[in-house]
Amino acid sequence: MDEVERLLVVDDEAPILHALQRTFEAAGYEVTACADPAEALERLREKPFQVLSADYMMPGMTGAEFLSQAKGLQPETIRILLTAAHDFSAAVDAINNGEIFRILPKPWNRVELLGTVRQAFDTYALREKNRQLTAIVQSQNSELAALNKGLEALVDERTTNLLDGMVAVLDYRDTETQWHSRRVSRFTRRIAEQLGVTDPHHLRTIEMGALLHDIGKIGVRDAVLLKPGPLDTDEWVEMREHPHLGWALLQRIEFLRDASIIVLQHQERFDGKGYPGGLAGEQIVLGARLFAVADTYDAITSDRPYRKAQSHDAALLEMQRVSGTQLDPQGVNAFCALAEAEWKAIRHDVEKISLLEKEWGWTPPKRVFDQIREVAMRQKQPISQPPAVEGVKT
Ligand SMILES: [Fe+2]
Repeated sequence: MDEVERLLVVDDEAPILHALQRTFEAAGYEVTACADPAEALERLREKPFQVLSADYMMPGMTGAEFLSQAKGLQPETIRILLTAAHDFSAAVDAINNGEIFRILPKPWNRVELLGTVRQAFDTYALREKNRQLTAIVQSQNSELAALNKGLEALVDERTTNLLDGMVAVLDYRDTETQWHSRRVSRFTRRIAEQLGVTDPHHLRTIEMGALLHDIGKIGVRDAVLLKPGPLDTDEWVEMREHPHLGWALLQRIEFLRDASIIVLQHQERFDGKGYPGGLAGEQIVLGARLFAVADTYDAITSDRPYRKAQSHDAALLEMQRVSGTQLDPQGVNAFCALAEAEWKAIRHDVEKISLLEKEWGWTPPKRVFDQIREVAMRQKQPISQPPAVEGVKT
């Protein structure tokens, strides 16, 4: 803060102006004295003054005009009006407009005059301190806001990594679940957007529910999950437990509770012939109904061990055939309303991630793991030290 206490005194009567200047200088203030209000305004343009003392009746402009212009030039300056008692009523407008701090009579009482000026400087200092503190608080608030944003992004990134990790766990037992799950989660979100879902929390819930839909398969025994042939009745009963197992697993994770309903209902059918609840129509949450649409599309358009991938158009035909029975018609319609290129772009995006993960050596999916194991067996090396595989950094 400025330590010099600068006072601007304006009075058109020379003897009074000099008397005021002497009084204030004796009190230790740096005084600038002006007989002409226009000149005083010039001084205000040149440098800041904490306090301004002005006469009311001056040539050229009224005290009210002068104080109003002075306020425009230096709004923070504390303004004092020094005027003869008979001018008090004329000064009312200046008082009412809040342009002055105090009004003092002429002739003045020295003690009262100096006391008022001291108060004016103290008030200025307090307000200045307050302005500085406010500025500090504002800057700290914006720093905090930026920090919060960074933290949110970090939480978001770590959550995504954690969920990817959870899905990748399944790949050690089942094949390529994670890429199917990632595609389906992106497809499901896109259908929801097309249907007009805009709430970011709802969209994120739908995306996470679709991503984790089969997470309950972790609890299904290998003998059932990896059985090459058809399952018998008891095995089917066990396999059909997976939505409930997934739901129960996610109950332990607070931020996945909403998504867990989608996991629980992902094998339901629109006509009520699904499991585990046999729910129909809107008894099934939107996310689970849209997931079924995305899952059907992905199943038809992806290579399977027993058949090659089919075309986009073939998938649409099949989805329309089962619309209203297996699938929610509004979900199918929303899907069909978008061009093939849109779905291809999402698939391409996910595949790009899979290539990068291979490149970076992150948790390899089972396919890559098998490749490493195959080479290791050929070279009779322990699997704990996998040899380099083409396209895979280990
Ligand atoms: Fe499933």
